Amino acid sequence: MLHTAIEAAHRAGRMIAERYPDGRTLTIKGYRDLVTDADIAAEEVIIDLIKERFPDHAIVSEEAGGSESSSDYTWIVDPLDGTTNYAHHHPVFAVSIGLVKRGDPLVGVIYDPLRKHMFVADRGGEARLNGVPIHVSRVANLGNAMVGLDWGHSNEVRRRILLYLHQIVPHCGTLRILGSAALAMAYVAAGWLDAYFSVGLKPWDTAAGMLIINEAGGRCSTFEGEPYRVNLPGCLATNSLIHDELLILMRRPDALA
Ligand code: IPD
Ligand code: CA
Ligand code: CA
Repeated sequence: MLHTAIEAAHRAGRMIAERYPDGRTLTIKGYRDLVTDADIAAEEVIIDLIKERFPDHAIVSEEAGGSESSSDYTWIVDPLDGTTNYAHHHPVFAVSIGLVKRGDPLVGVIYDPLRKHMFVADRGGEARLNGVPIHVSRVANLGNAMVGLDWGHSNEVRRRILLYLHQIVPHCGTLRILGSAALAMAYVAAGWLDAYFSVGLKPWDTAAGMLIINEAGGRCSTFEGEPYRVNLPGCLATNSLIHDELLILMRRPDALA
């Protein structure tokens, strides 16, 4: 299953990278939410391979939706995470493929096709980047930390983000917004970001990333500190060491006003 996820991510990534220099066919699918011809084409490649290898498994994919199945196994696919970046020719985007068994992550693969970065993990194994084990950073206090986040689409989500930022900014080292939730989570796993949070996530944004972070020694939780699960929109993902410091700031009632 891990091999299939890697192969599917490679195939989709190649297609996305090949189409990257061209003009995009854009469709607006929601408020501040785009889909391109590359999202659809990459999704088809991934779904075809999974169906060929595991015809009984369920698949939930961002553009195609869910398929009915009584299987314990569900593939959760984001064929192109960072579509807005892609459409702007901003070179930060990835393919994300997760596999869960009755809701528990088994396999996670995030592939950045421009940099040829393949982040992978299987449950109980190591997290790896291009075959080399990775580990979350050892930054132990927020004052030295690089914290990633996402704006999301709606103004309501952005308002909440601003409230969290109001709490966090005076205490953290610096901030980054990549524009790809999956890649930001992969960067936490690799130690290139010390934390990442978002309040507007979908299962396909996080299914792979949460496993890769956990296997790299990090922690993913809700803003209340409960273990994060893929169907939840709010996630705080960190190197573990600065998790509680961030939770305290994010729990403050005025951050949720
Ligand atoms: C989006 C990206 C973005 C995040 C949005 C996601 P998409 O995914 O991950 O960074 O802020 O919430 O929807 O639409 O590019 O697959
Ligand atoms: Ca996404
Ligand atoms: Ca997407």
